[in-house]
Amino acid sequence: MRRLLVTGGAGFIGANFCHYWAQAHPGDRLVALDLLTYAGNLASIAPLIDCGRVRFVQADIADRAQVEALLREERLDTVVNFAAESHVDRSIEDPQRFLRTNVMGTQALLEAARTVWAEHTLGREPRFHHVSTDEVYGSLEPDQPASSENSPYAPNSPYAASKAAADHLVRAYSRTYGVPCTISNCSNNYGPYQFPEKLLPLCILNILEGRPLPIYGDGLQLRDWLHVSDHCRAIDAILEASPPGETWNVGGSSGDTNLKLVQALCELVDTAFAADPKLAVRFAQCAPAHGRRSRELIQHVRDRPGHDRRYCVDSSKLRARLGFAAATSLGEGLAATLQWYLANENWWRPVLSGEYRSWYTRQYARA
Ligand code: NAD
Ligand code: TYD
Repeated sequence: MRRLLVTGGAGFIGANFCHYWAQAHPGDRLVALDLLTYAGNLASIAPLIDCGRVRFVQADIADRAQVEALLREERLDTVVNFAAESHVDRSIEDPQRFLRTNVMGTQALLEAARTVWAEHTLGREPRFHHVSTDEVYGSLEPDQPASSENSPYAPNSPYAASKAAADHLVRAYSRTYGVPCTISNCSNNYGPYQFPEKLLPLCILNILEGRPLPIYGDGLQLRDWLHVSDHCRAIDAILEASPPGETWNVGGSSGDTNLKLVQALCELVDTAFAADPKLAVRFAQCAPAHGRRSRELIQHVRDRPGHDRRYCVDSSKLRARLGFAAATSLGEGLAATLQWYLANENWWRPVLSGEYRSWYTRQYARA
């Protein structure tokens, strides 16, 4: 039995991970820690909290004393660190917050784990798994091979630089202090519960509400898209079988340009509206509700400064050594994600209105 601390457990991937783990490992103890910044939404894991499957603690990963107390109290043997400032555009506006959470916060978490895990022997070998990004490798030229775990780091945005710095600290804590750490560098995730500042949920909700779809620059930037359920399975495989000190790339093998991706999404929406006339009643502003095509909403806008042209990770180490491969194709995953947003208006309406920010207080802090 594992006793896990999931940091950033109310964010997009952290929440998906809590759902995944609760189901895949019913005997394990799950504690989710999250500061509940704008990106944290407790509604994403509320059913798990309400049924007692997950204990939620609102805290800052940079608050070492509180994290240490929690590690001791719960005798946690596994940390999966998702907590971060994660949006590149925000890092361009306000880099300092990214350094505070992603760099100093990760160091505080590492220090807490190092301190507490040295105090006594746990029931199992402890593990600190740090979730990072393919963006640390920087932008690839069209003819360059995919980034491997040995590729040099070349981050280009403040977000990527902060994640790169955190990776270096994790490595240093592993080498210097012997904290048993692993790192995964994954590509762009998509799926349920993603905050609608990121490309796919932003475009889904904008299509449904008849708003423009902003494509940065020419839209020919290439990304590799990983369904979040595959990412959760990959972390499980790493926790299960990776020796400490290893780094793993996790890709979806589903690369496409931003423009093609958004065009494919538009087609899916048009097809869904053609198949179900009730959608036109629910989403009267949506282009196909009045005989138009969703792709007409695409608008090229000013490019992101320093926008990386191409990311592509080589996940052959994960496949060869841990037998892991992504199972969801981009076509299937996109269709499923659209269906999820269509079926979960009660999740995203409060996000768009801002009401979700007072959700914690209303639900859990009334006393
Ligand atoms: P997210 O922004 O949706 O969630 C981040 C969560 O961390 C939020 O719930 C937020 O409240 C919490 N948080 C922020 N600062 C905190 C702090 N100081 N202490 C405690 N909690 C704090 O991000 P995500 O998309 O779920 O990404 C999770 C992790 O995966 C991040 O580390 C990110 O860098 C990495 N990653 C994400 C992607 C992607 O496509 N989303 C790709 C590669 C790597
Ligand atoms: P994003 O979802 O912000 O993830 P990341 O920057 O971490 O890859 O963006 C994915 C891609 O989509 C990226 O190349 C930027 C682009 N993009 C747009 O073209 N328009 C948008 O409105 C957003 C948010 C992103």
